[in-house]
Amino acid sequence: MSTSLSSHILSFAVTMMLFAGVEFAPQFAQGLENGVGRTPALGWNTWNQFGCNVSAALILEQARLLVSTGLAEKGYKYVNIDDCWQNHTRDSHGKLQADAKRFPDGISALSKELDAMGLLLGIYSDVGTKTCAGYPGSSGSYEIDAATFAEWGISYLKFDTCSLTAAERKDPRPAYGEMSTALNSTGRPILYSMCNWGQHKSYQWAGGMANSWRTTEDIWPQWQRVVELLEANKDLAQYARPGAFNDMDMIEVGVNGHVFNQKLLPRTKLTSREAESHFSLWALMSSPLILGLDLSQAPQWALDIVGNDEVIAMNQDAAGHQGNLVAEVKHGSILGGKCVSLGNCTHTQVWRKQLAGVQSVGVVLFNRGDDWTENSPKWQVETVQIPFSKLGFAADVSVHVRDVLEHKDLGVMTGSVALPVPPHGVRTLVLKAVGGAAYA
Ligand code: GAL
Repeated sequence: MSTSLSSHILSFAVTMMLFAGVEFAPQFAQGLENGVGRTPALGWNTWNQFGCNVSAALILEQARLLVSTGLAEKGYKYVNIDDCWQNHTRDSHGKLQADAKRFPDGISALSKELDAMGLLLGIYSDVGTKTCAGYPGSSGSYEIDAATFAEWGISYLKFDTCSLTAAERKDPRPAYGEMSTALNSTGRPILYSMCNWGQHKSYQWAGGMANSWRTTEDIWPQWQRVVELLEANKDLAQYARPGAFNDMDMIEVGVNGHVFNQKLLPRTKLTSREAESHFSLWALMSSPLILGLDLSQAPQWALDIVGNDEVIAMNQDAAGHQGNLVAEVKHGSILGGKCVSLGNCTHTQVWRKQLAGVQSVGVVLFNRGDDWTENSPKWQVETVQIPFSKLGFAADVSVHVRDVLEHKDLGVMTGSVALPVPPHGVRTLVLKAVGGAAYA
């Protein structure tokens, strides 16, 4: 495991160096009309908590828990096996095969069991010759692999970007496109989730071939990382639409340490407040919500956060808009991640997502804090205020304000809303214009 992890990291680093400086011109992206992924995908994935320790038993255990916790009913349908499910060699017909010890009955049997539970099985492969953990990739075998996945009853493919040929490193679009065509020609609806870490500005072209595409390198359960990934996605709203979403990577709510962190970095996790902020922000940004926690050890607070129907509904809004940053206030000086001001260091933001129907928006009032721990003495609860005109409402409109974390109506307001927000915390709201006035 440690060898495959270090080779994984090495290949990641080498690829990143090779991609540095490559510029891709914006292209007109057409939606991938394969009928799936019209709203961001909801599901669960093995990687963040279990790394290479994948097996049919694990998948079945977590699938059952998705059902018994009620999360499946709330929409978390995809159960995705990430890297390391494969045998190291293809069979005599060139087909990928599962590791027989971990998946003794094969993948088809597993997908049938999930199907009987009302769930959908997802799988992982790689556009290059090897996956990031060193298993056979799909390069040169796109058609046969797509056909195999369809035959196995797969409904979601995460397609990674390790071990590319020189030509693919220069331009991975033809290879990713070939898999898109191969999946579509199977006739089975398979959600195509590209995972090329945002390289080659894939957000500009992936919408024509995939249902979602990763826009960054990996997430891990650490506050600083969550904020960095949010930042990296802040200007990408124009690329999201039904059937095609920017993927900010998986949900770290309730995840204890990361597969990388266990070896290389201290074990980290988000506090419950940070986890709540992460989930609201990912929901507002219309990112797929793919859970990473071990459901057999999930604390109730984590289940409550990811099971919040109103936040899920904001993510799943039919219009498919992504949120964007509409206001930001910074005070004080941060040096090396620490507040070095005599006064307080504060950094608040307001994020807004337009919802379907008339005059309705999701809003996250966010107190970022700007330090790595929650205990900085220089932090405080901040009042975050936003005029309705900055949220797209006409100046004189009355607005109904609902707190979707507390499940509480806060009343009808005019002019603006102002609420106290704790450090690393959010207030997540749905605002609706009273009386049907149009967006300004
Ligand atoms: C990375 C990917 C991760 C995980 C891992 C598996 O490239 O970003 O999400 O899939 O590979 O090796």
